[in-house]
Amino acid sequence: MVDATNSAEATSSVSGAGSAGPKPLAGQSALVTGASRGIGAAVARDLARLGARVGVAARSEAPLRELTAELGGWALPGDLTDPDGVAQMLRRFREAAGGEPDILVTSAGVFTIASVEATSAEELDLNWALNVRASVLCVQGVLAGMKARGSGTLVQVGSVAGRKAFPGNGAYSASKFGIRGFHEVLLEEIRGTGVRATLLEPAATDTPIWDPIDPDNDPHLPPRAAMLRPAEVAEAVSFVVTRPAGVQIPFLPIERS
Ligand SMILES: NC(=O)c1ccc[n+]([C@@H]2O[C@H](COP(=O)([O-])OP(=O)(O)OC[C@H]3O[C@@H](n4cnc5c(N)ncnc54)[C@H](OP(=O)(O)O)[C@@H]3O)[C@@H](O)[C@H]2O)c1
Repeated sequence: MVDATNSAEATSSVSGAGSAGPKPLAGQSALVTGASRGIGAAVARDLARLGARVGVAARSEAPLRELTAELGGWALPGDLTDPDGVAQMLRRFREAAGGEPDILVTSAGVFTIASVEATSAEELDLNWALNVRASVLCVQGVLAGMKARGSGTLVQVGSVAGRKAFPGNGAYSASKFGIRGFHEVLLEEIRGTGVRATLLEPAATDTPIWDPIDPDNDPHLPPRAAMLRPAEVAEAVSFVVTRPAGVQIPFLPIERS
């Protein structure tokens, strides 16, 4: 079992698949990328709590296996910056779940900070390959099946940095504005198909993505205690995916009041 007692997830009522309560997602399957920690892990827990069978993807196999020991579902380890890695992950999900997911949440992401002058080609490539290309390939990979079925919910995790500029966010912001551009095209292309899509745009959230940056010791960054909790972002995903069929929330910014 994952010990959540010291993690941000423990601040919410989310407590895994076994908890009592309504199961509006019973019979549905969900695929969550970036689920080895942070927002993705919290999303996987909350979707399982609501009754979904969840496939969890990231590179680190051990935390994925701990999560599936807790929630059931399927661990799908692999590097999603590699298009073949995305294709393999989707194939393994289909084999395990018996088809395309009812819900796709793309949360795998990287965050780099560097001034415009200091941003390297490698940082640009990494932000593009994971924050944009992997999400796009995941959506592309499940879309035909969802359209054929006439239902499905696609949730891409964007960022407040996909709308608003912050110094040092050149590569990251380019990727998050990029995924917003893709999402807006997607919204037009899925109109009338029964498939719906949401771009989630969280503000700063207290996850391991901040560990290398140490915001508590940088006066230009929000302290971790003032950030959103991953479980609060996960609850927003659960809200989106439990709307009645035919109701779509195209954009969902989330911030601290
Ligand atoms: N935290 C924030 O303040 C914040 C705010 C707005 C938006 N977001 C967005 O929310 C999403 C999740 O962020 P987070 O804060 O939860 O970050 P996190 O705690 O660092 O988690 C990132 C996840 O992505 C996975 N990942 C990283 N590289 C990967 C790769 N090459 N292939 C497959 N998976 C990979 C990581 O697992 P492995 O390392 O095991 O692969 C991990 O599961 C990101 O898209 C981020 O941009 C975060």
